[in-house]
Amino acid sequence: MSNSYDEAFERSINNPNGFWGEVAENCHWYKKWDKVLDDTNKPFYRWFVGGELNSCYNALDVHIENGRGDQDALIYDSPVTDTIKKFTYSELRDSVATFAGVLAAQGVEKGDRIIIYMPMVPEAVIAMLACARIGAVHSVVFGGFAANELALRINDAKPKIVVSASCGIEVAKVVSYKPLLDRAIEIAESKPERCIILQRSAETATLIKGRDLDWNDVMKDAEPHDCVPVGAADPLYILYTSGTTGLPKGVVRDNGGHLVALKWSMKAIYNVDAGDVYWAASDIGWVVGHSYIVYGPLFMGCTSILFEGKPVGTPDAGAFWRVISDHKVKCLFTAPTAFRAIKREDPNAELMKNYDLSNFKSLFLAGERLDPDTLKWAENSLGIPVIDHWWQTETGWAICANCLGLHPFPVKEGSPTKSAPGYKLKVVDDNNNPVKAGEIGALVVELPLPPGTLPTLWNNDEGFVESYLEEFPGNYKTADAGFIDEDGYAYVMSRTDDIINVAGHRLSTGAMEEVLADHPDVAECAVLGVEDKLKGHVPIGFLVLNAGVQRDLNDIIQETVRMVRERIGPVASFKTAMVVKRLPKTRSGKILRGTIQKIADNKEWTMPATIDDPIVLDEIKEVLQSIGYALG
Ligand code: COA
Ligand code: AMP
Repeated sequence: MSNSYDEAFERSINNPNGFWGEVAENCHWYKKWDKVLDDTNKPFYRWFVGGELNSCYNALDVHIENGRGDQDALIYDSPVTDTIKKFTYSELRDSVATFAGVLAAQGVEKGDRIIIYMPMVPEAVIAMLACARIGAVHSVVFGGFAANELALRINDAKPKIVVSASCGIEVAKVVSYKPLLDRAIEIAESKPERCIILQRSAETATLIKGRDLDWNDVMKDAEPHDCVPVGAADPLYILYTSGTTGLPKGVVRDNGGHLVALKWSMKAIYNVDAGDVYWAASDIGWVVGHSYIVYGPLFMGCTSILFEGKPVGTPDAGAFWRVISDHKVKCLFTAPTAFRAIKREDPNAELMKNYDLSNFKSLFLAGERLDPDTLKWAENSLGIPVIDHWWQTETGWAICANCLGLHPFPVKEGSPTKSAPGYKLKVVDDNNNPVKAGEIGALVVELPLPPGTLPTLWNNDEGFVESYLEEFPGNYKTADAGFIDEDGYAYVMSRTDDIINVAGHRLSTGAMEEVLADHPDVAECAVLGVEDKLKGHVPIGFLVLNAGVQRDLNDIIQETVRMVRERIGPVASFKTAMVVKRLPKTRSGKILRGTIQKIADNKEWTMPATIDDPIVLDEIKEVLQSIGYALG
């Protein structure tokens, strides 16, 4: 018998115009679309072309007009500064309109880019929505990236203005942001005209005269700005994500499809309604933060939580339960690593007992594979549905999920359940032929992708086609491998490229290799992700030194660790490197990363038939054992 999920899924695939057109009626449009799906320029698809809207209007103003002005829109909960600050929809709209006025007064116009490099403070959300209000394109850069990464993004996005803060607070450590910003601008070729800096009480940044402005000063004199209608296919934001090289990919998000898909997902996937409290414990620098701290919950008229803290250490492993209880959170979304951190410190979930969690109805996890131990621990200690769902920066919302608001399915361990409506997920072999149920292959989505997913890469249509559409013609390549079982449940096993997930953060080992290769004593190197109990994976580096290098090996290792921290950022968690004589390779010269990884993780492995010299693997194993890996 069919259910609401089956019906929605079937219609979304067989009649996308009818399905999404109907969903879009629930949003505010200044001008209705001419066409729901424009497929006249394949493989570039556009949603709701001809439509005009404003994402900020749909996030804030519309709710005030519908009587939600006094409801909390955003609750800033910051244990690291001992602050809780609530913004009603009216208050948030006023601050956003004022900052939109600041940007407009600085000459920012529709289509101009603004980079936001900020910690988890309300001003970051205000800046994002202010850009949306005037049709400017924001690009938020995660605070854990170093100056060099910020510079790469400045060069690509060419922002008119950078909005930043004096510092972030990582548990008890104050992390200065401003020197990183100054350094990034110094090394970037493209120079922003202005920087607007939020001075936080933990640290006052030095402002550069003629370039930098103080957030509080500019807000004092600004005139509020109204919403500017933009085209449905106009970009709302660019979010850079790791690719296979050191150059990040600028994922573009449009305004129309994004609004329609995210608003719909709040009920269909997360089963929350207007007025409910929703919390995505992530960072605004990641896609989860964009979609489910800022836009999704606000489009829906929910109260969203902005949490500046960690699952442990702020002050203890009960922090999540405290927030859920204090603010009556109905649905929490975070990464499995956060739960592994809590479980490690409070294995019997004793701290949970101190809080009233009666409003808490569902936990959603994503960002990395959900290991069965963490799933069971969360299910047993919380007694509510624990939902694994799978998605990517590129898609902006879940490819696979157990859609609680449509029809909940029984949970199968290791599976993010079935394709969400809109995604025709398939598993194919190297020749793009579908494989049988249960067989592993490349996970691909048949085109067109649903609304809200990336229409292209910033200024790089060619790169978009090359990265995602070329290898499996007619399909979008997720770059994840896995299988779909007889019941239609998907299983996501591993990436097919060099991306690793470290504490739910997506990182490129290729980018780290580029940094290591720059060390003057390094002739060759390889970085790969090995299993880690807390972070899922962590990167480790293998260094082959130039002939004749006589220096202390530890010094060289420490220098490489420092280089990755300085060039990519602390978020890379690159702490381990080792010097080896040679790297195991195939006869054609390809480094056998997969085999090294299996050895490090104590997984079964077979000697590759194409290996150049099998002895090299023994040497690698010995080195790994000397630092605590490959001991099984
Ligand atoms: N600004 C500056 N530095 C940052 C930062 C930020 N926004 N975020 C992280 N860092 C730094 C950390 O301080 C740490 O630095 P260190 O090497 O000096 O200790 C480093 O980057 C690594 O951070 P992280 O990977 O977060 O590790 P952690 O040990 O600090 O915390 C967890 C581990 C599991 C508690 C943490 O990763 C977490 O809460 N994860 C939740 C999941 C999540 O947010 N996922 C995002 C996608 S949903
Ligand atoms: P990001 O773009 O940072 O969201 O990372 C996307 C990648 O994270 C995906 O391509 C997967 O490799 C991984 N990922 C995200 N969610 C899941 C999940 N639920 N299960 C397994 N892997 C996941």
